[in-house]
Amino acid sequence: MTKRIIVTGGAGYIGSHVCVDLLGAGASVLIIDNLSNAHEEAVRRIGELAPGGIEFLRRDLADPAHRRDIIDAVAAFRPDGAVHLAGLKAVGESVAEPARYYRVNIGATLTLIDALEAAQARTMVFSSSATVYGDANPNPVGEDAATAPANPYGRTKYVIEEMLKDLARSKASEPGAAWRIANLRYFNPVGAHPSGRIGEDPNGVPNNLFPFIAQVAVGRRDRLSIFGDDYPTRDGSGVRDYIHVCDLARGHTAALDYLGGAAAPHVVDINLGAGRGYSVFEAVAAFKRASNRDIPYMVAPRRDGDIAEIYANAERAQRLLGWRAEKTIDDMCADHWRWQSANPEGYRS
Ligand code: UD1
Repeated sequence: MTKRIIVTGGAGYIGSHVCVDLLGAGASVLIIDNLSNAHEEAVRRIGELAPGGIEFLRRDLADPAHRRDIIDAVAAFRPDGAVHLAGLKAVGESVAEPARYYRVNIGATLTLIDALEAAQARTMVFSSSATVYGDANPNPVGEDAATAPANPYGRTKYVIEEMLKDLARSKASEPGAAWRIANLRYFNPVGAHPSGRIGEDPNGVPNNLFPFIAQVAVGRRDRLSIFGDDYPTRDGSGVRDYIHVCDLARGHTAALDYLGGAAAPHVVDINLGAGRGYSVFEAVAAFKRASNRDIPYMVAPRRDGDIAEIYANAERAQRLLGWRAEKTIDDMCADHWRWQSANPEGYRS
Protein backbone atom coordinates (compact mmCIF):
# COMPACT_ATOMS: atom_id res chain seq x y z
CA MET A 1 0.00 0.00 0.00
CA THR A 2 1.31 3.40 -0.98
CA LYS A 3 1.48 5.62 2.02
CA ARG A 4 2.49 9.24 1.38
CA ILE A 5 0.79 10.94 -1.54
CA ILE A 6 0.95 14.42 -3.08
CA VAL A 7 -2.47 15.48 -4.39
CA THR A 8 -2.28 18.48 -6.72
CA GLY A 9 -5.65 20.18 -7.08
CA GLY A 10 -6.65 18.36 -3.89
CA ALA A 11 -9.04 21.11 -2.74
CA GLY A 12 -11.15 20.89 -5.92
CA TYR A 13 -14.22 18.81 -6.68
CA ILE A 14 -12.59 15.54 -7.67
CA GLY A 15 -9.43 16.15 -5.62
CA SER A 16 -11.31 16.56 -2.35
CA HIS A 17 -13.01 13.18 -2.85
CA VAL A 18 -9.69 11.58 -3.81
CA CYS A 19 -8.14 12.90 -0.57
CA VAL A 20 -10.98 11.51 1.57
CA ASP A 21 -10.59 8.10 -0.10
CA LEU A 22 -6.79 8.05 0.29
CA LEU A 23 -6.94 9.15 3.94
CA GLY A 24 -9.61 6.52 4.57
CA ALA A 25 -7.23 3.91 3.14
CA GLY A 26 -4.56 5.00 5.64
CA ALA A 27 -2.46 7.28 3.44
CA SER A 28 -0.98 10.66 4.41
CA VAL A 29 -1.69 13.44 1.98
CA LEU A 30 -0.03 16.73 0.99
CA ILE A 31 -2.46 18.88 -1.00
CA ILE A 32 -0.91 21.43 -3.36
CA ASP A 33 -3.57 23.82 -4.64
CA ASN A 34 -3.64 27.51 -5.57
CA LEU A 35 -7.38 27.74 -4.76
CA SER A 36 -8.07 29.32 -8.16
CA ASN A 37 -11.21 27.20 -8.50
CA ALA A 38 -11.43 25.74 -4.99
CA HIS A 39 -11.91 26.77 -1.36
CA GLU A 40 -9.82 26.32 1.75
CA GLU A 41 -13.06 25.29 3.48
CA ALA A 42 -12.92 22.11 1.39
CA VAL A 43 -9.55 21.26 2.95
CA ARG A 44 -11.04 21.75 6.41
CA ARG A 45 -13.96 19.47 5.56
CA ILE A 46 -11.70 16.77 4.13
CA GLY A 47 -10.03 16.76 7.54
CA GLU A 48 -13.42 16.53 9.23
CA LEU A 49 -14.51 13.53 7.10
CA ALA A 50 -11.17 11.70 7.27
CA PRO A 51 -9.10 12.83 10.20
CA GLY A 52 -5.44 11.98 9.92
CA GLY A 53 -2.39 13.02 8.02
CA ILE A 54 -3.42 15.95 5.86
CA GLU A 55 -1.17 18.89 4.98
CA PHE A 56 -1.96 21.81 2.72
CA LEU A 57 0.38 23.97 0.64
CA ARG A 58 -1.23 26.93 -1.12
CA ARG A 59 1.00 27.36 -4.14
CA ASP A 60 0.56 27.56 -7.90
CA LEU A 61 2.36 24.74 -9.74
CA ALA A 62 2.31 26.78 -12.94
CA ASP A 63 3.91 29.88 -11.39
CA PRO A 64 7.71 29.90 -11.82
CA ALA A 65 7.98 31.99 -8.63
CA HIS A 66 6.49 29.08 -6.61
CA ARG A 67 8.60 26.36 -8.18
CA ARG A 68 11.40 26.27 -5.60
CA ASP A 69 8.98 26.19 -2.65
CA ILE A 70 7.04 23.35 -4.21
CA ILE A 71 10.12 21.25 -4.98
CA ASP A 72 11.39 21.75 -1.41
CA ALA A 73 8.01 20.98 0.18
CA VAL A 74 7.57 17.83 -1.89
CA ALA A 75 11.06 16.60 -0.96
CA ALA A 76 10.43 17.33 2.74
CA PHE A 77 7.15 15.35 2.59
CA ARG A 78 9.03 12.23 1.36
CA PRO A 79 6.20 11.08 -0.93
CA ASP A 80 5.70 7.67 -2.50
CA GLY A 81 3.89 9.24 -5.44
CA ALA A 82 1.35 11.78 -6.63
CA VAL A 83 -2.17 12.16 -7.92
CA HIS A 84 -2.10 15.07 -10.36
CA LEU A 85 -5.41 16.90 -10.80
CA ALA A 86 -4.31 20.56 -10.81
CA GLY A 87 -5.26 22.33 -14.02
CA LEU A 88 -7.76 24.46 -15.89
CA LYS A 89 -10.82 22.62 -17.19
CA ALA A 90 -13.36 24.93 -18.87
CA VAL A 91 -13.80 23.99 -22.52
CA GLY A 92 -15.14 27.38 -23.70
CA GLU A 93 -12.42 29.31 -21.87
CA SER A 94 -9.78 27.07 -23.44
CA VAL A 95 -11.03 27.99 -26.92
CA ALA A 96 -10.76 31.71 -26.06
CA GLU A 97 -7.40 31.47 -24.24
CA PRO A 98 -5.49 28.46 -25.59
CA ALA A 99 -2.02 29.75 -24.65
CA ARG A 100 -3.05 30.09 -21.00
CA TYR A 101 -4.44 26.54 -21.04
CA TYR A 102 -1.23 25.08 -22.45
CA ARG A 103 0.96 27.18 -20.14
CA VAL A 104 -0.93 26.28 -16.97
CA ASN A 105 -1.79 22.64 -17.60
CA ILE A 106 1.53 21.64 -19.09
CA GLY A 107 3.64 23.97 -16.91
CA ALA A 108 2.06 22.58 -13.73
CA THR A 109 2.76 19.01 -14.86
CA LEU A 110 6.43 19.81 -15.62
CA THR A 111 6.94 21.30 -12.16
CA LEU A 112 5.36 18.22 -10.57
CA ILE A 113 7.59 15.92 -12.65
CA ASP A 114 10.69 17.83 -11.48
CA ALA A 115 9.54 17.73 -7.86
CA LEU A 116 8.89 13.96 -8.00
CA GLU A 117 12.26 13.36 -9.69
CA ALA A 118 14.00 15.38 -6.98
CA ALA A 119 12.15 13.42 -4.28
CA GLN A 120 12.83 10.13 -6.10
CA ALA A 121 9.12 9.31 -6.08
CA ARG A 122 8.46 8.43 -9.70
CA THR A 123 4.83 7.36 -9.45
CA MET A 124 2.01 9.46 -10.87
CA VAL A 125 -1.71 9.02 -11.37
CA PHE A 126 -2.80 11.64 -13.90
CA SER A 127 -6.28 13.10 -14.14
CA SER A 128 -7.03 12.70 -17.83
CA SER A 129 -10.37 12.67 -19.59
CA ALA A 130 -12.50 10.76 -22.06
CA THR A 131 -12.36 14.03 -23.96
CA VAL A 132 -9.11 12.71 -25.52
CA TYR A 133 -11.21 10.33 -27.66
CA GLY A 134 -12.44 11.33 -31.09
CA ASP A 135 -16.14 11.45 -31.80
CA ALA A 136 -16.24 8.65 -34.39
CA ASN A 137 -15.49 5.70 -32.10
CA PRO A 138 -18.10 2.96 -31.68
CA ASN A 139 -19.49 2.58 -28.14
CA PRO A 140 -18.46 1.36 -25.67
CA VAL A 141 -15.15 3.20 -26.08
CA GLY A 142 -12.04 1.26 -25.01
CA GLU A 143 -8.59 2.69 -24.31
CA ASP A 144 -7.27 1.77 -27.75
CA ALA A 145 -9.94 3.81 -29.55
CA ALA A 146 -8.84 6.69 -31.78
CA THR A 147 -7.77 9.87 -30.00
CA ALA A 148 -8.81 13.24 -31.46
CA PRO A 149 -9.61 15.81 -28.76
CA ALA A 150 -11.92 18.51 -30.11
CA ASN A 151 -10.78 21.60 -28.18
CA PRO A 152 -7.65 23.11 -26.54
CA TYR A 153 -8.61 21.85 -23.06
CA GLY A 154 -8.86 18.29 -24.38
CA ARG A 155 -5.63 18.70 -26.30
CA THR A 156 -3.76 19.73 -23.13
CA LYS A 157 -4.90 16.43 -21.57
CA TYR A 158 -3.77 14.53 -24.64
CA VAL A 159 -0.38 16.30 -24.82
CA ILE A 160 0.26 15.61 -21.13
CA GLU A 161 -0.56 11.92 -21.61
CA GLU A 162 1.94 11.77 -24.49
CA MET A 163 4.55 13.65 -22.46
CA LEU A 164 4.15 11.19 -19.58
CA LYS A 165 4.57 8.29 -22.01
CA ASP A 166 7.86 9.78 -23.25
CA LEU A 167 8.97 10.20 -19.65
CA ALA A 168 8.09 6.60 -18.78
CA ARG A 169 9.98 5.27 -21.82
CA SER A 170 13.07 7.36 -21.09
CA LYS A 171 13.99 5.65 -17.83
CA ALA A 172 12.27 2.32 -18.31
CA SER A 173 15.41 0.20 -18.07
CA GLU A 174 17.30 2.21 -15.44
CA PRO A 175 17.10 0.32 -12.16
CA GLY A 176 15.65 2.56 -9.44
CA ALA A 177 14.84 5.40 -11.85
CA ALA A 178 11.83 4.00 -13.69
CA TRP A 179 8.49 5.83 -13.66
CA ARG A 180 5.10 4.23 -13.01
CA ILE A 181 2.29 6.28 -14.51
CA ALA A 182 -1.46 5.80 -14.96
CA ASN A 183 -3.47 8.13 -17.20
CA LEU A 184 -7.00 7.86 -15.84
CA ARG A 185 -9.53 8.85 -18.48
CA TYR A 186 -12.61 10.03 -16.62
CA PHE A 187 -16.04 9.90 -18.19
CA ASN A 188 -18.58 12.27 -16.53
CA PRO A 189 -18.00 12.61 -12.77
CA VAL A 190 -21.08 13.70 -10.80
CA GLY A 191 -22.53 13.35 -7.30
CA ALA A 192 -20.88 14.16 -3.99
CA HIS A 193 -19.69 12.54 -0.78
CA PRO A 194 -22.76 10.96 0.91
CA SER A 195 -22.20 13.20 3.97
CA GLY A 196 -23.14 16.26 1.90
CA ARG A 197 -20.05 18.05 3.26
CA ILE A 198 -17.96 18.20 0.06
CA GLY A 199 -19.10 18.50 -3.53
CA GLU A 200 -18.87 20.45 -6.76
CA ASP A 201 -18.91 24.24 -6.40
CA PRO A 202 -18.33 25.73 -9.85
CA ASN A 203 -17.46 29.41 -10.33
CA GLY A 204 -20.13 31.33 -12.23
CA VAL A 205 -22.61 29.65 -14.56
CA PRO A 206 -22.02 25.88 -14.58
CA ASN A 207 -20.90 24.43 -17.92
CA ASN A 208 -21.77 20.87 -17.00
CA LEU A 209 -25.16 19.22 -16.77
CA PHE A 210 -25.37 18.04 -13.14
CA PRO A 211 -24.29 21.25 -11.39
CA PHE A 212 -26.70 23.13 -13.63
CA ILE A 213 -29.62 20.81 -12.82
CA ALA A 214 -28.77 21.02 -9.12
CA GLN A 215 -28.80 24.83 -9.18
CA VAL A 216 -32.19 24.80 -10.93
CA ALA A 217 -33.56 22.37 -8.33
CA VAL A 218 -32.36 24.56 -5.46
CA GLY A 219 -33.82 27.71 -7.05
CA ARG A 220 -30.57 29.48 -8.01
CA ARG A 221 -31.48 29.29 -11.73
CA ASP A 222 -34.85 29.39 -13.49
CA ARG A 223 -34.52 26.51 -15.89
CA LEU A 224 -32.23 24.12 -17.66
CA SER A 225 -31.53 24.33 -21.38
CA ILE A 226 -31.35 20.87 -22.93
CA PHE A 227 -28.83 21.19 -25.72
CA GLY A 228 -30.52 19.33 -28.56
CA ASP A 229 -33.33 16.75 -28.72
CA ASP A 230 -32.62 15.64 -32.29
CA TYR A 231 -29.53 13.47 -31.80
CA PRO A 232 -29.66 9.88 -33.08
CA THR A 233 -30.12 8.55 -29.52
CA ARG A 234 -33.04 6.77 -27.82
CA ASP A 235 -34.83 10.03 -26.88
CA GLY A 236 -32.92 12.55 -29.02
CA SER A 237 -30.83 14.06 -26.19
CA GLY A 238 -27.10 13.46 -25.61
CA VAL A 239 -26.03 10.27 -23.85
CA ARG A 240 -23.09 10.23 -21.40
CA ASP A 241 -21.47 7.83 -18.95
CA TYR A 242 -22.06 9.46 -15.55
CA ILE A 243 -19.90 8.15 -12.74
CA HIS A 244 -20.25 8.84 -9.02
CA VAL A 245 -17.30 10.93 -7.82
CA CYS A 246 -16.73 8.53 -4.88
CA ASP A 247 -16.41 5.58 -7.27
CA LEU A 248 -14.02 7.71 -9.33
CA ALA A 249 -11.99 8.60 -6.23
CA ARG A 250 -11.64 4.90 -5.31
CA GLY A 251 -10.21 4.35 -8.78
CA HIS A 252 -7.26 6.61 -7.89
CA THR A 253 -6.46 4.71 -4.70
CA ALA A 254 -6.70 1.45 -6.65
CA ALA A 255 -4.42 2.84 -9.39
CA LEU A 256 -1.77 3.84 -6.82
CA ASP A 257 -1.90 0.34 -5.31
CA TYR A 258 -1.56 -1.16 -8.77
CA LEU A 259 1.42 1.05 -9.69
CA GLY A 260 3.12 -0.01 -6.45
CA GLY A 261 2.86 -3.70 -7.38
CA ALA A 262 5.55 -5.83 -8.96
CA ALA A 263 3.68 -6.34 -12.26
CA ALA A 264 2.96 -2.66 -12.91
CA PRO A 265 3.79 -1.34 -16.38
CA HIS A 266 5.72 1.91 -16.83
CA VAL A 267 2.69 3.67 -18.23
CA VAL A 268 -0.93 2.70 -18.82
CA ASP A 269 -4.17 4.39 -19.94
CA ILE A 270 -7.28 3.39 -17.99
CA ASN A 271 -10.91 4.44 -18.49
CA LEU A 272 -12.89 5.24 -15.37
CA GLY A 273 -16.53 5.07 -16.34
CA ALA A 274 -19.62 3.14 -15.30
CA GLY A 275 -19.88 1.47 -18.70
CA ARG A 276 -23.41 2.60 -19.49
CA GLY A 277 -24.99 5.80 -20.74
CA TYR A 278 -27.90 7.97 -19.62
CA SER A 279 -29.59 10.64 -21.73
CA VAL A 280 -30.12 14.23 -20.59
CA PHE A 281 -33.86 13.55 -20.23
CA GLU A 282 -33.12 10.44 -18.12
CA ALA A 283 -30.69 12.40 -15.92
CA VAL A 284 -33.28 15.14 -15.37
CA ALA A 285 -35.95 12.54 -14.46
CA ALA A 286 -33.57 10.83 -12.00
CA PHE A 287 -32.65 14.14 -10.36
CA LYS A 288 -36.31 15.06 -10.06
CA ARG A 289 -37.02 11.76 -8.25
CA ALA A 290 -34.06 12.19 -5.91
CA SER A 291 -34.73 15.84 -5.03
CA ASN A 292 -38.51 15.82 -5.15
CA ARG A 293 -38.20 19.23 -6.83
CA ASP A 294 -39.44 20.42 -10.16
CA ILE A 295 -36.72 20.87 -12.81
CA PRO A 296 -38.13 23.29 -15.42
CA TYR A 297 -36.38 22.95 -18.77
CA MET A 298 -36.53 24.07 -22.37
CA VAL A 299 -35.05 22.42 -25.42
CA ALA A 300 -32.32 24.62 -26.92
CA PRO A 301 -30.10 24.20 -29.99
CA ARG A 302 -27.21 21.74 -29.90
CA ARG A 303 -24.04 22.99 -28.16
CA ASP A 304 -21.00 23.38 -30.40
CA GLY A 305 -18.58 20.50 -30.13
CA ASP A 306 -21.03 18.09 -28.44
CA ILE A 307 -21.38 14.52 -29.65
CA ALA A 308 -24.47 12.33 -29.55
CA GLU A 309 -23.37 9.47 -27.36
CA ILE A 310 -20.30 8.17 -25.52
CA TYR A 311 -19.86 5.58 -22.80
CA ALA A 312 -16.91 3.59 -21.57
CA ASN A 313 -15.65 0.12 -21.96
CA ALA A 314 -14.41 -0.15 -18.37
CA GLU A 315 -13.04 -3.71 -18.53
CA ARG A 316 -9.38 -2.70 -18.25
CA ALA A 317 -9.99 -1.00 -14.89
CA GLN A 318 -11.74 -4.13 -13.68
CA ARG A 319 -8.95 -6.42 -14.90
CA LEU A 320 -5.93 -4.38 -13.77
CA LEU A 321 -7.24 -2.52 -10.73
CA GLY A 322 -10.04 -4.81 -9.57
CA TRP A 323 -12.18 -1.66 -9.75
CA ARG A 324 -15.67 -1.10 -11.01
CA ALA A 325 -18.25 1.63 -10.51
CA GLU A 326 -20.82 0.54 -7.94
CA LYS A 327 -23.14 3.47 -7.40
CA THR A 328 -26.33 3.97 -9.44
CA ILE A 329 -27.69 7.06 -11.15
CA ASP A 330 -30.11 7.39 -8.20
CA ASP A 331 -27.15 7.43 -5.76
CA MET A 332 -25.46 10.07 -7.92
CA CYS A 333 -28.54 12.29 -7.89
CA ALA A 334 -29.36 11.76 -4.19
CA ASP A 335 -25.80 12.61 -3.12
CA HIS A 336 -25.48 15.53 -5.52
CA TRP A 337 -28.78 16.88 -4.15
CA ARG A 338 -27.78 16.39 -0.51
CA TRP A 339 -24.66 18.50 -1.10
CA GLN A 340 -26.50 21.17 -3.12
CA SER A 341 -29.44 21.51 -0.75
CA ALA A 342 -27.23 21.67 2.36
CA ASN A 343 -24.85 24.15 0.66
CA PRO A 344 -27.02 26.15 -1.77
CA GLU A 345 -24.21 28.65 -2.39
CA GLY A 346 -21.48 26.00 -2.26
CA TYR A 347 -18.65 26.55 0.23
CA ARG A 348 -19.71 30.20 0.67
CA SER A 349 -23.03 29.06 2.22
C1 UD1 B 1 -17.83 18.27 -20.87
C2 UD1 B 1 -16.73 18.73 -21.81
C3 UD1 B 1 -15.56 17.77 -21.67
C4 UD1 B 1 -15.08 17.73 -20.23
C5 UD1 B 1 -16.24 17.38 -19.31
C6 UD1 B 1 -15.82 17.56 -17.87
C7 UD1 B 1 -17.77 19.92 -23.67
C8 UD1 B 1 -18.12 19.89 -25.13
N1 UD1 B 1 -17.21 18.79 -23.17
O1 UD1 B 1 -18.27 16.97 -21.27
O2 UD1 B 1 -14.51 18.18 -22.52
O3 UD1 B 1 -14.06 16.77 -20.06
O4 UD1 B 1 -17.36 18.25 -19.54
O5 UD1 B 1 -16.80 17.09 -17.01
O6 UD1 B 1 -17.99 20.91 -22.98
N2 UD1 B 1 -26.14 19.50 -21.36
C9 UD1 B 1 -27.36 20.14 -21.48
N3 UD1 B 1 -27.54 21.32 -20.81
C10 UD1 B 1 -26.55 21.90 -20.04
C11 UD1 B 1 -25.32 21.22 -19.92
C12 UD1 B 1 -25.14 20.03 -20.60
O7 UD1 B 1 -28.26 19.66 -22.17
O8 UD1 B 1 -26.79 22.98 -19.48
C13 UD1 B 1 -25.95 18.19 -22.04
C14 UD1 B 1 -24.79 18.15 -23.02
O9 UD1 B 1 -25.21 18.55 -24.31
C15 UD1 B 1 -24.38 16.67 -22.95
C16 UD1 B 1 -24.69 16.29 -21.50
O10 UD1 B 1 -25.64 17.24 -21.03
O11 UD1 B 1 -25.18 15.89 -23.80
C17 UD1 B 1 -23.48 16.32 -20.59
O12 UD1 B 1 -22.83 17.59 -20.71
P1 UD1 B 1 -21.61 18.02 -19.75
O13 UD1 B 1 -21.97 17.76 -18.34
O14 UD1 B 1 -21.23 19.41 -20.11
O15 UD1 B 1 -20.47 16.97 -20.12
P2 UD1 B 1 -19.77 16.66 -21.54
O16 UD1 B 1 -20.26 17.54 -22.61
O17 UD1 B 1 -19.88 15.19 -21.76
